[in-house]
Amino acid sequence: DWTMGAYREEAIRKIREQVGDQKVICGLSGGVDSSVAAVLIHEAIGDQLTCVFVDHGLLRLGEAEQVVTMFRDHYNMPLIHADESDLFLNALEGVSDPEVKRKTIGRLFIEVFEKHAKSVGGATFLAQGTLYPDVIESVSFSGGPSVTIKSHHNVGGLPEKMGMKLVEPLRELFKDEVRALGRELGLPQSFIGRHPFPGPGLAIRCPGEITRDKLEILRRADAVYIDQIRKHGLYDEIWQAFAALLPMRTVGVMGDGRTYDYALALRAVTSVDGMTADYYPFTHDFLGETATRIINEVQGVNRVFYDCTSKPPGTIELE
Ligand code: XMP
Repeated sequence: DWTMGAYREEAIRKIREQVGDQKVICGLSGGVDSSVAAVLIHEAIGDQLTCVFVDHGLLRLGEAEQVVTMFRDHYNMPLIHADESDLFLNALEGVSDPEVKRKTIGRLFIEVFEKHAKSVGGATFLAQGTLYPDVIESVSFSGGPSVTIKSHHNVGGLPEKMGMKLVEPLRELFKDEVRALGRELGLPQSFIGRHPFPGPGLAIRCPGEITRDKLEILRRADAVYIDQIRKHGLYDEIWQAFAALLPMRTVGVMGDGRTYDYALALRAVTSVDGMTADYYPFTHDFLGETATRIINEVQGVNRVFYDCTSKPPGTIELE
């Protein structure tokens, strides 16, 4: 793609010009955006870049291993695997308000990045995979009045608080363009095609109070759901799919016994840029089979709902 080839060259030139001989740390989540940003910046400035992968204990099944293996072993990038799950989960104990969750997580991310900006010998730049929709959603929503729907979209706050300068090479791009750039940079399709995953991770897929037990159930249920979607060849048709553990228990019957377990919501949407979305029209067979598999394979769930809400009026995440 000649357009992306040109964009790549221009972006690399700008990064070199902006950064000079300073050190940069990049928050790497393993999502498409931060992965593309990291590979691009690494191409521009090599080992002046250190990636920081923060494991906040809110990741999906096997996710940390996948990301660390990919970037450390495959790309040979300097990468810090910051296992901070106790820090995050302890701070989130008893917190049920979505915005308080986001702010708590945001504050701790900053702490962890600050710590590692020092640990790499004084990084002055923080790199982020901010996209154009992140920039505009912070200003207005669907062209309406200026309302902040979710605080993650406040993209400006981080560097001031940290005293770091920002490198955001994807700030002008939409998601499909980031994917094209990723392909141009040779990232494997398995990474480029990954569904978006929010920074606060499973915290906002576990409405209400978060516990380690709930997270464990959610992780296992989500893995079964995604496995079903892959097995049916639907993964690439869907913008984003995930399970959310609802803050309610319901009565069920399994074998000879009564159960009193969590209800799970399944969500899947199609979208171009995440700003608007339609729920995905799974067949009833698929939904029935998936519900059965989850209830049989995941202890702690005895009921499964499918979320048929589009955006607007719903948002993609439940919180
Ligand atoms: P919503 O739920 O606002 O999501 O319709 C739109 C897109 O943004 C992602 N999202 C987040 N990403 N931090 C993030 O990095 C967040 O706090 C956050 N909340 C939502 C969501 O997964 C979807 O792709």
